[in-house]
Amino acid sequence: MKIELAVIAGDGIGPEVVAEGIKVLQAIGSRFGHSFNLHHGLIGGIAIDRTGEALPEETLKMCRSAQSVLMGAVGGPKWDDPKAKVRPEDGLLAVRKGLGLFANLRPVTVSPLLADSTALKPEVIRGVDLIVLRELTGGLYFGRPKKQWQTARGRRAVDSMVYSEQEIERIVRVGFELARGRRKKLVSVDKANVLESSRLWRQVTMEVAKKYRDVELEHMLVDTCAMRLIQTPKYFDVIVTENTFGDILTDEASVLAGSMGMLPSASLAGVPQDGGGMFGLYEPIHGSAPSIAGQDIANPIATILTVAMMLRYSFGLVKEANTIETAVEQVLNEGYRTSDIMEKGKTKVGTKKMGDLIARKAGGT
Ligand code: IPM
Ligand code: MG
Repeated sequence: MKIELAVIAGDGIGPEVVAEGIKVLQAIGSRFGHSFNLHHGLIGGIAIDRTGEALPEETLKMCRSAQSVLMGAVGGPKWDDPKAKVRPEDGLLAVRKGLGLFANLRPVTVSPLLADSTALKPEVIRGVDLIVLRELTGGLYFGRPKKQWQTARGRRAVDSMVYSEQEIERIVRVGFELARGRRKKLVSVDKANVLESSRLWRQVTMEVAKKYRDVELEHMLVDTCAMRLIQTPKYFDVIVTENTFGDILTDEASVLAGSMGMLPSASLAGVPQDGGGMFGLYEPIHGSAPSIAGQDIANPIATILTVAMMLRYSFGLVKEANTIETAVEQVLNEGYRTSDIMEKGKTKVGTKKMGDLIARKAGGT
């Protein structure tokens, strides 16, 4: 297969982890006979520095004409001035919105090899296998009005959690489809006891549920969900929720996997199909981690697993995706760890070395 891939590495550790993802991709390419034609573009802080915009038109065009996009991370202290007119994160939001990628799949699985090294009891997290489906192009992130202004009695600011029934329906439908292909249990997370947008979310979810009677649906308040994710994570199969709740719950869920550096994600415009063929933006859930950037210590596994998701969902290359996931497990099994998942008795390695080890296994050499 010959694949045209857009690469937007961004800021901080973004370029470092993306380089390792590409290393693994190339290894898979030479083993299984695929070629990846990479098109690099600017996004985030680096794009602001060079062009004044967080998502230059050229980058968006490049992404649109590629078959998929691999992203790193954006942001950093250099661009953190709350008064700044443009922020790196604007680029990320614009690329998600501009490409219409409303469905962000964030699978959370716990490697048995890391079950003893996380902050939680091994018996609580062993066997966790859930997906958070985060709505990605609506809600608080995009709702209007969104502004800060001066009044006679001081400054005020507003953000708006806005959802249309169409936006809710399409994401919830993806949630039901995902659950149908798994353990048939969907938890829809909202704050319907307080928020009007959540009450609409709940109504629409119940309407969509009529077409999915084989899937068990439960509504859960977001605060309860935050608690249960840590207390009884194995309870969950598929969680569907709005943008901000999904953002927060997935950072929380990364504790189950041992580190933010372990969780991949895929942003799609619908239900992933067997056989691939779906355009997507693939990004690790972690940020640009400026404090550790440039030191060869970031964990590249989230990005490497993100590459596996891309091969599976966009290109239907299931064997290749499984090969990457197995390679990650093998390297962990041999005792190699980046510093975020380091434990006593294991071998600490840097970003590049971890990438090399996984690429070598994935490439079968
Ligand atoms: C994520 C990140 C982003 C988000 C930030 C960097 C804007 O936290 O992908 O979870 O909030 O969506
Ligand atoms: Mg986040």
